[in-house]
Amino acid sequence: MAIINHSLAFFLAFLVTTALRLVHGSITNPLVSPTPPMGFNNWARFQCGLNESLFTTTADAMVSKGLLAAGYNRLNLDDCWMQTSRSDQGLLQWNTTLFPQGIPWLVNYVKSKGFHFGIYEDAGNKTCGGYPGSLGYEATDAQTFSSWGINYLKLDGCNVDPYKGKTLQQTYQVIYGRWHDVLSNLSKPMVFSESAPAYFSGDSDFPKQNNESDWYRVMAWAPLYGELARHSNDIDVFGLYEPTEYWKSIMNNYAHNVLLARYQQPGFYNDPDFIIADWPWLTLEEKKSQFALWSAFSAPLIISANVQDLSPKEITYLTNKDIIAIDQDPLALQATLVSQDGNWDVLTKNLAGGDRLLTVLNRSNKTASTSINVERVGLTRDGKYTVKDLWTGSNQTVTTVIAIELPGHATAMYRFFKVPTATPTGMIFNSATRKCMTHIAASILFQDCAGTDSQVWGVSSQGLISPLSAPSLCLKADGGVSMVGCNPEDKKQLWAYYKSGNLVNHATKAKKCLYNTYPFVVVCGDELDSQVYSLPSGTMLH
Ligand SMILES: *[C@@H]1O[C@H](CO)[C@@H](O)[C@H](O)[C@H]1NC(C)=O
Ligand SMILES: *[C@@H]1O[C@H](CO)[C@@H](O)[C@H](O)[C@H]1NC(C)=O
Ligand SMILES: *[C@@H]1O[C@H](CO)[C@@H](O)[C@H](O)[C@H]1NC(C)=O
Ligand SMILES: *[C@@H]1O[C@H](CO)[C@@H](O)[C@H](O)[C@H]1NC(C)=O
Ligand SMILES: *[C@@H]1O[C@H](CO)[C@@H](O)[C@H](O)[C@H]1NC(C)=O
Ligand SMILES: *[C@@H]1O[C@H](CO)[C@@H](O)[C@H](O)[C@H]1NC(C)=O
Ligand SMILES: *[C@@H]1O[C@H](CO)[C@@H](O)[C@H](O)[C@H]1NC(C)=O
Ligand SMILES: *[C@@H]1O[C@H](CO)[C@@H](O)[C@H](O)[C@H]1NC(C)=O
Repeated sequence: MAIINHSLAFFLAFLVTTALRLVHGSITNPLVSPTPPMGFNNWARFQCGLNESLFTTTADAMVSKGLLAAGYNRLNLDDCWMQTSRSDQGLLQWNTTLFPQGIPWLVNYVKSKGFHFGIYEDAGNKTCGGYPGSLGYEATDAQTFSSWGINYLKLDGCNVDPYKGKTLQQTYQVIYGRWHDVLSNLSKPMVFSESAPAYFSGDSDFPKQNNESDWYRVMAWAPLYGELARHSNDIDVFGLYEPTEYWKSIMNNYAHNVLLARYQQPGFYNDPDFIIADWPWLTLEEKKSQFALWSAFSAPLIISANVQDLSPKEITYLTNKDIIAIDQDPLALQATLVSQDGNWDVLTKNLAGGDRLLTVLNRSNKTASTSINVERVGLTRDGKYTVKDLWTGSNQTVTTVIAIELPGHATAMYRFFKVPTATPTGMIFNSATRKCMTHIAASILFQDCAGTDSQVWGVSSQGLISPLSAPSLCLKADGGVSMVGCNPEDKKQLWAYYKSGNLVNHATKAKKCLYNTYPFVVVCGDELDSQVYSLPSGTMLH
């Protein structure tokens, strides 16, 4: 009996810890959001022009237009939903003019249609729009949201002052960490979208910074606390900018996302912000490109648009099953750059089931043409690959090269079926300067990215690094660096890639890091601009 009781106690303890662990978010429990979220948010399209009927009509339109069936199952309410002060009990209150039946009623309404509901708050004293912030009220507000039936929180980062004795970055870590603890205590899981990284991206002028070190420091802890990193500027909101600014805004958030691939894994996603599907200042090709690129990233697909008025063409691309399957791929990898030459961006990643993705963006509005050989996809020429064009749905057989034809700002996507293990292949570039590591004779230089074979590198599972321009030569740390005949026995040729972004050579006692100017390897520092690199997807992370 005693023994049975004992093991029963253990079993119950196990159940309790397991249950608790189930409600913990972040990469420690990918089940909170095993794939990137999909849905709607009012912000970029309507900003503070929100109300109950916007959400009920959007929910109805998402059902009738097939968006819910395609996977867009979240409705997220952004800033400006509150009253200007808390109740006498210190609780947040909704604006009763905007939400006459109350937010819990609205949550139930959208739930009855098959959606989840998400909400917005701020880590500081006030939201960006000037409504009550959650600083000091974290547990109360989490409880409030949960009691309203909400299971997704976007926590912005306006109006945060540094704590005494801490840097601003450390202060954000304390507050977002506190939220993680508070959310972990709830009886039901809450998806936690963290806007903290955006405040350090160097993209905005807050805070003024000379380098990206704090941005990487935030990105190191964000995956431990929540499911999403809103990492750079907001997508330009509807109607307030020059027409040409909107494509630039998409390309700006894209350019920041490509710097962060190493942080993404199932349960945690880099968030380059909303899918802006009905902007009259974007061409259909540009809108399709944003959708395709975000899907190649396995980024959240949160539409900010007037859903009722989305055209059949817009609905058709937003519900493309093959491309949504790329976004929702169980590996949740973020595609990385193979090459970038001003006209063409080429990206690849592995997909579940032994498939591989090739994505090609025609950035230019100038005439150009391209073809991509299978080595750049990380494959060898001895195969006969079945490749599906994910826009047209048609298959072709590829042996050596794939020819690409695209209108301006358009993006092509190809799924290679059942490939042999691909070699991580692509650019190795410095995040701060965006310069590409370039093989030159017996050494390297960091130069403008031009898409040449001397800038496309393969990384072996052992850590050997060699360029397509000379596949038998490998990068060696030897005082400086040199390119020598590959030899996996030579420890000076073996490189280890870390989540910090450092590419480290362990051959000497003091770890040596790749560095962006001569002598190209130096003793490692902490998140230094000159030592943080992006490597091809699939490179083993230490
Ligand atoms: C609700 O918001 C939408 C979008 O801004 C607006 O078109 C509509 O007139 C508003 N409805 C009410 C009742 O205020
Ligand atoms: C509540 O919404 C109404 C209608 O849009 C608006 O006039 C009022 O200023 C709002 N209250 C707050 C506190 O924002
Ligand atoms: C937040 O509130 C605290 C305490 O009232 C105050 O000291 C601080 O200045 C406020 N910070 C901001 C950004 O408003
Ligand atoms: C979590 O819940 C426990 C038990 O109720 C409580 O002691 C603890 O303070 C809570 N933690 C947070 C961060 O709310
Ligand atoms: C990064 O910039 C901050 C100021 O924002 C400065 O204190 C720090 O020393 C800089 N770090 C490097 C490595 O330049
Ligand atoms: C091409 O793009 C550039 C830069 O955005 C712009 O200045 C130019 O007018 C565009 N040309 C055409 C033909 O659209
Ligand atoms: C394309 O090839 C894939 C993989 O072999 C196959 O499953 C699919 O049915 C093919 N599609 C068409 C339209 O032939
Ligand atoms: C890229 O887009 C431009 C502008 O529409 C077009 O002229 C060019 O032909 C496109 N490139 C290819 C290879 O289709």
